[in-house]
Amino acid sequence: MNAPVSKKLFIRTYGCQMNVYDSERMSEALTGAGYEAVDTPEDADLVLLNTCHIREKAAEKVYSELGRIRKMADEKAERGGQMRVGVTGCVAQAEGEEIVRRQPLVDLVVGPQAYHRLPAMLDALESGKGAQVVTDFPAEDKFDALPPRIRRASPSAFLSVQEGCDKFCAFCVVPYTRGAEFSRPVEKVLAEARRLAASGVREVTLLGQNVNAYHGEGEGGTWSLARLIRAVAQVEGIDRIRYTTSHPNDMDDDLIAAHADTDELMPYLHLPVQSGSDRVLKAMNRKHTAESYVRLIDRIRETRPDMAMSGDFIVGFPGETEADFEETLALIDAVRYSQAFSFKYSPRPGTPASTAEQVPEPVKEERLSRLQDRLRVHQVRFQDSCLGRVMPILFEKTGREPGQLIGRSPYLQPVHAYAPDTALRQIIPVRIDASFPNSLSGTLIEDIS
Ligand code: SAH
Ligand code: SF4
Ligand code: F3S
Repeated sequence: MNAPVSKKLFIRTYGCQMNVYDSERMSEALTGAGYEAVDTPEDADLVLLNTCHIREKAAEKVYSELGRIRKMADEKAERGGQMRVGVTGCVAQAEGEEIVRRQPLVDLVVGPQAYHRLPAMLDALESGKGAQVVTDFPAEDKFDALPPRIRRASPSAFLSVQEGCDKFCAFCVVPYTRGAEFSRPVEKVLAEARRLAASGVREVTLLGQNVNAYHGEGEGGTWSLARLIRAVAQVEGIDRIRYTTSHPNDMDDDLIAAHADTDELMPYLHLPVQSGSDRVLKAMNRKHTAESYVRLIDRIRETRPDMAMSGDFIVGFPGETEADFEETLALIDAVRYSQAFSFKYSPRPGTPASTAEQVPEPVKEERLSRLQDRLRVHQVRFQDSCLGRVMPILFEKTGREPGQLIGRSPYLQPVHAYAPDTALRQIIPVRIDASFPNSLSGTLIEDIS
């Protein structure tokens, strides 16, 4: 590909943080291949939809979006231009060729492990070859090259350290779309962390579908996530570290200890449980019980008393009874989540639970709304418990009101405060004066102008 020609690239991202990270890295890789990123698809030369397959709705969105893109591509063709369209991510992996059959507009289908092939696939298109579909799982690191050292807009960035999953929960497509567990080598992670720090990043969120199962090759052998976190904490300029998503069974003692001995590690943990009923957990193939999960959280809070917990829940998994569901509500009361994500079970093709007898939709609806009411009670309580506290806030961007900035608390809450622009990218103590269900607002306690 001829680098100096600037073509316009638009990427739309669906799904989890891993997709957000992948989109950023694809954009960087394609920038090196002569593309520049734009904010709207209308006039783009290349449109990529980086897709999610986790629930039916998420996957269907892709086809309706492709319908809209088709109109834009036709309009562009009338003006004498050409729009290439690619589907990347987990729908690409799950449906492969089928996507081109359903929507012939699509020129490229690329699974999440094959992004480094994109420039070559685009070259093949340019030379007149037909639609390109790559969904294999190559052994090489898809993002081997380091991102360019440009100043990043936000002081907070994602850094992918682990990908794939070997757990095969009965409801989940991830082991099929992302493949087997793979950990990036320690040196690659640290090099990327240094690079991010040099581009103005102060907070990194280490990403993985099962991030706490990290076991990357490093000096002296295999490193755990705890050891990796302590090494990232030594990177000059990195002041905050988070990690997501974790599985309860991979939460080892050293990782719990890191929450007490590593100041950079933030007191917030996303630890999905899915259900509070052992019967349902067993049918889900989760390999933990409600009690072992609650005990684990007790141990975490003995080590780090202010740990804010987050989680994921599924209601209406096949076979879930009212009594099972009530056990989930009881678990929520025991854990007191600061926030959480909850979903109605969505049968996914190829997963074991999809063929079981389904819970009726109205029952799922009703349970989801009761579950969310219960989660909200604890979330609001947690938000209110922050009133009057002084917290270090990392300011990330300007707010809607003039003079207002938005940052994040250690517990990941968005915090609004009036502050000069010089506070951007700084970690500054803020006294919390008001709490809302999804954010806080406060006042700087030091004059920094
Ligand atoms: N790796 C993480 C999360 C992966 S997917 C983990 O171990 O939990 C993110 C969340 O989507 C899951 O935690 C689950 O709550 C939800 N989810 C996954 N498959 C689903 C399905 N078929 N229907 C509804 N929710 C689902
Ligand atoms: Fe999916 Fe379970 Fe793996 Fe999480 S642990 S990605 S829910 S299979
Ligand atoms: Fe969706 Fe794939 Fe992430 S299915 S949640 S984009 S791993």
